[in-house]
Amino acid sequence: MPKFNRDGFTTTFGVLVATLGSAIGLGNIWKFPSLTGTNGGASFLLVYLAATLLVGLPVMIAETMLGRAARANAVTSFEILASRQPQWKAIGWMGFAAALLIMAFYSEVAGWVYAYVFKAVSGEISTVDPKVAGAAFGKLVSSPLTVLAWQWVVLALTGGIIMVGVSRGIEAVTRRLVPLLFVLLLVLCVRSLMLDGAGRGLAFLFQPDFSKITPAVALTALGLAFFKLSLGMGTMLTYGSYFRDDQNIPWTAARVMLADLSVSLLAGIAIFPAVFTFGFAPSAGPSLVFMTIPAVFTSMPGGVVFMTIFFFITAIASVGAILSLLEVPAAILSERYGLSRKTAALATVAAIALLGVPASLSQSVMENVKLFGLNPFDLFDYLSSNVLLPLGGILICLFVGWVYGFEKTEKSLSNNGELNNRGLIKAAFFLISFVAPLAIAIVLLNGLKLI
Ligand code: TRP
Repeated sequence: MPKFNRDGFTTTFGVLVATLGSAIGLGNIWKFPSLTGTNGGASFLLVYLAATLLVGLPVMIAETMLGRAARANAVTSFEILASRQPQWKAIGWMGFAAALLIMAFYSEVAGWVYAYVFKAVSGEISTVDPKVAGAAFGKLVSSPLTVLAWQWVVLALTGGIIMVGVSRGIEAVTRRLVPLLFVLLLVLCVRSLMLDGAGRGLAFLFQPDFSKITPAVALTALGLAFFKLSLGMGTMLTYGSYFRDDQNIPWTAARVMLADLSVSLLAGIAIFPAVFTFGFAPSAGPSLVFMTIPAVFTSMPGGVVFMTIFFFITAIASVGAILSLLEVPAAILSERYGLSRKTAALATVAAIALLGVPASLSQSVMENVKLFGLNPFDLFDYLSSNVLLPLGGILICLFVGWVYGFEKTEKSLSNNGELNNRGLIKAAFFLISFVAPLAIAIVLLNGLKLI
């Protein structure tokens, strides 16, 4: 008997779409291009690809499997699966902390996107001039009250959806948006590939210069792989706990990984040709997408309309990802402390709103407040993606490899022998118990300069 009387995803397709909705978000459209630009382009992309295949995919399979086997939140699941070693539930608590940290800056960036929907309509960002585009972005992020207000709009909206629950809330919202996003990105890519700088943009994205791979770059690529697939902090575990018993987990994970990767690549192909055509700096960082995407649209007929739709869809894509982040603390609070979903969602959103203030003010009043040389925005980002997620990933792999074990893994991933995928499970188990934890440990220790 499952421990909790719980809601769940209602169809196998719904599972796939909700999981995709979690994976695809600002990580693809905002973080991926920005990090690829600042970390040297193609060589970064290669390390990122390796991290996704050798670490991301196996961790995703491991996490969803644990969640479905335990059918509980990220903390309680470990108590259920290893009742004699309850210390493993620390993974869930780390995830709780990571969710709040990520949300503190993620909700801010989502707020920028919301604001850009209106800027697109107003024509303010219809420009291919890097100076004008930079000024428009600068004006937004340096107005403390405006960014805070947008962040709160994001939190109110997503908190409200979480209160409604899993099947009606998350599933209903996410299943409609992914296809639309795909189509718009394709339109952008076609336009971008016709620009003069297309060749240089593609070379930046696909011609690796291996001298640019340093330990810090490798850690950033690994962190991005975790971030983009929502791994290492219990999101996929929590979503796995809503999976159906007949869901083919390895296949679902592989499809989500491929779709997530294609969206990122499309975003890259849409952005980098424009960067080189119009003279933007590839290393612009967080502002990159907010300047180049409008430039591509501005240079084509009907640009304002498409631009508005693009930011609108990106806003919705961010909702799918945010819901999955909020769900981790919300499920922990409601299942462990008997809070109603409403109260749990409210408490989570309130904590994030507080933590979000320093993040939102990092580009204005608090820009000189620094810890380890990073402002609060960058610090939250670094701590979550480059420390907590990889650390959570190692622990999840070790748990599956050495506590949960092969026998149970085989039973879980084959749906009690119903699926004929023994070879695949063996390969996945090998990656989960040896390759992934070792690779993460090496990259993490080098990247943080601990060895
Ligand atoms: N993967 C999402 C994106 O790319 C963000 C996200 C959702 C996330 N849930 C997560 C990141 C859990 C890390 C951990 O936008």
